[in-house]
Amino acid sequence: MDDWIDYYDSTHTIYASRLHRDVHFEEIARDIIGYIPAPDAVVLDYACGEALSAAKVAAACGRLILAEPAPGVRGRLIARFAPITKIRVRSLDELRHMEEMSVDLAVMNSVAQYMTPDELDAAFKVMKRLLKPGGKLVVGDILQPDVGMGRDVAALIQLSWKHGFLKDAVWGLVRTALSDYRQLRTRIGLQRYPEAEMLAKLAAAGFSASRAPVNIGHNPWRMTFVARHAL
Ligand SMILES: C[S@@+](CC[C@H](N)C(=O)[O-])C[C@H]1O[C@@H](n2cnc3c(N)ncnc32)[C@H](O)[C@@H]1O
Repeated sequence: MDDWIDYYDSTHTIYASRLHRDVHFEEIARDIIGYIPAPDAVVLDYACGEALSAAKVAAACGRLILAEPAPGVRGRLIARFAPITKIRVRSLDELRHMEEMSVDLAVMNSVAQYMTPDELDAAFKVMKRLLKPGGKLVVGDILQPDVGMGRDVAALIQLSWKHGFLKDAVWGLVRTALSDYRQLRTRIGLQRYPEAEMLAKLAAAGFSASRAPVNIGHNPWRMTFVARHAL
């Protein structure tokens, strides 16, 4: 396994159970919907993963573009959402050829930690080109340098307690500790940014940004940033 895209294209165990996976995507969809500015908005979910609750997001906007680099995941997205004409599935490369200034909201949740800083700058550039002036970019689940893996474990335990999958979560943590995830996390690591550095990175990419009061999804120790396409 070479990188995180390979990992997410594999039969990984990042979700402790089917219920965990479903709860995760429900929460992400709920939070994305909260950022949709109008019922006819064009929304881009950048590196969306399995996006199991994307039908709900699509119902709340005019068009939903699901962009995903992992080819196996993308194949499943195409099959899963074929009946929903509001949803389009794209590779990240295909985004570069989309019409500029055509997107109202771009969301990139829980992705920046898997990218090099240069890859993240390139992704910001792609989304800047696609966003309409005044459009919004929401970057979620950013890890801070001083917050360790213990907080990820605590956040999962809290989520599983709330939704009744505590036992599965504990087994899931054991499986993950013995898996490719742990090896990749040790070998490649996860990219972390202090709040000020992420704000500076977004400013350098031409956005005026601020930190949102709450993170997207279940982990309150990670950060979300809301960035406006500066005119
Ligand atoms: C934790 S999943 C997040 C999926 C979804 N956005 C969510 O919030 O559930 C990480 C995603 O990042 C993608 N990814 C991993 N490494 C990447 C990279 N270097 N560039 C772009 N995407 C990457 C994976 O294919 C996967 O879809």
